[in-house]
Amino acid sequence: MKKNKIFVACDSNNVQKVRKIIRETRNSKIAIGYKFGLEFLNSRNGRNFIANLKNETTFGDYKINDIPNTCANTIKSIKDLKFNYVTIHISSGLNALKAAKRFAGNTKLVGVTILTSLDNKSLKAIGFNKNVKKLVLHQAKLANKAKLDGIVCSAQEVNTVKTVFKKEIITPGIRFNSEANDQKRIQTPKQAYENGADWLVIGRNITKGNIKKNIQKLIDHLNQ
Ligand code: C5P
Repeated sequence: MKKNKIFVACDSNNVQKVRKIIRETRNSKIAIGYKFGLEFLNSRNGRNFIANLKNETTFGDYKINDIPNTCANTIKSIKDLKFNYVTIHISSGLNALKAAKRFAGNTKLVGVTILTSLDNKSLKAIGFNKNVKKLVLHQAKLANKAKLDGIVCSAQEVNTVKTVFKKEIITPGIRFNSEANDQKRIQTPKQAYENGADWLVIGRNITKGNIKKNIQKLIDHLNQ
């Protein structure tokens, strides 16, 4: 049987902590990749750590959001890190997405839709007229046009995205229980896979507290 796939969000500025996360999440039941976000990527030793990481599936969550030239050059400047996946905000616009994709090579370029920490109310406050579902669908079409390799959205929108985007779907905003923290659009791991997500991103529910126990909890939850 194919294994479920999870990106563990290594959200720390401390290499020792990230080393511990990698060591303690290793298991034979779930395929694990490691996601490095702005906190670790901008930490003193983060880049060097990733440069020396071997034989892992890696995800550089840069959430690039800039003009086409800067997006393209950013992709070029992280080439040596050989990420399997890198993110760019779809709201950077079609030309920026295309410019970045042109230089991505073997790295899968993944478009970030509306952050899972936002709901309809927060979108209105930013100045958007569309609701989350419509905006995510709209952005998924743009990602398709730019020939991106994957999309990040909440597990709640996977069905909608799948109607227009046929490649990989990665879903953060995953919770074992109803404790959402700063996330707004959440679902359980089981729900997310049932909806058709290819990869889940899980941070705090795995990395806070006893990591090994949290992984076992996840395995048990998926087997229920
Ligand atoms: O701790 P938690 O499971 O909420 O972490 C989610 C991770 O996914 C964080 O690293 C966050 O930056 C990232 N992410 C997200 N929502 C997105 C894109 C990325 O939560 N839309």
